[in-house]
Amino acid sequence: MSLSPSQIRRLAAAARRAARSSYAPYSEFRVGAAVLTASGKIFSGCNVENASSGLTICAERTAVFTAVAAGQRRLVAVAVYTPTPRPTAPCGACRQVIHEFGPTATVLCVCDSPDRIEISLDQLLPKAFGPKDLR
Ligand code: THU
Repeated sequence: MSLSPSQIRRLAAAARRAARSSYAPYSEFRVGAAVLTASGKIFSGCNVENASSGLTICAERTAVFTAVAAGQRRLVAVAVYTPTPRPTAPCGACRQVIHEFGPTATVLCVCDSPDRIEISLDQLLPKAFGPKDLR
């Protein structure tokens, strides 16, 4: 499903705002994300790094887990803002986590220029392993 102009504006704004809370003292790469749930709510998140680098979590996963923790398990769209001149798509780990709750979610990637990517999760992660494979 493609997003309406107002959904794009709201999601992009929430993702950009979330990047302000980013804790990224090691990479200095401050990322923000926002998810739109089937109930129409928006939840946001930022990347949170750790001195033990392996424990760093991306902005997308923070946003997804925040939505799930609030009882919202159906994701319609996920936006990510990166402080880059070109939009960048979520990492593989985040694609897998988004798939769990939004296998056909629209992923919107925004950056410091007007360029953006709008693509569906199933295009980013074809033939994904998911909850159905365990049944
Ligand atoms: N990062 C994200 O939060 N999301 C992405 O889509 C790409 C990478 C974070 C992880 C780490 O804190 C920093 O960006 C550099 O990789």
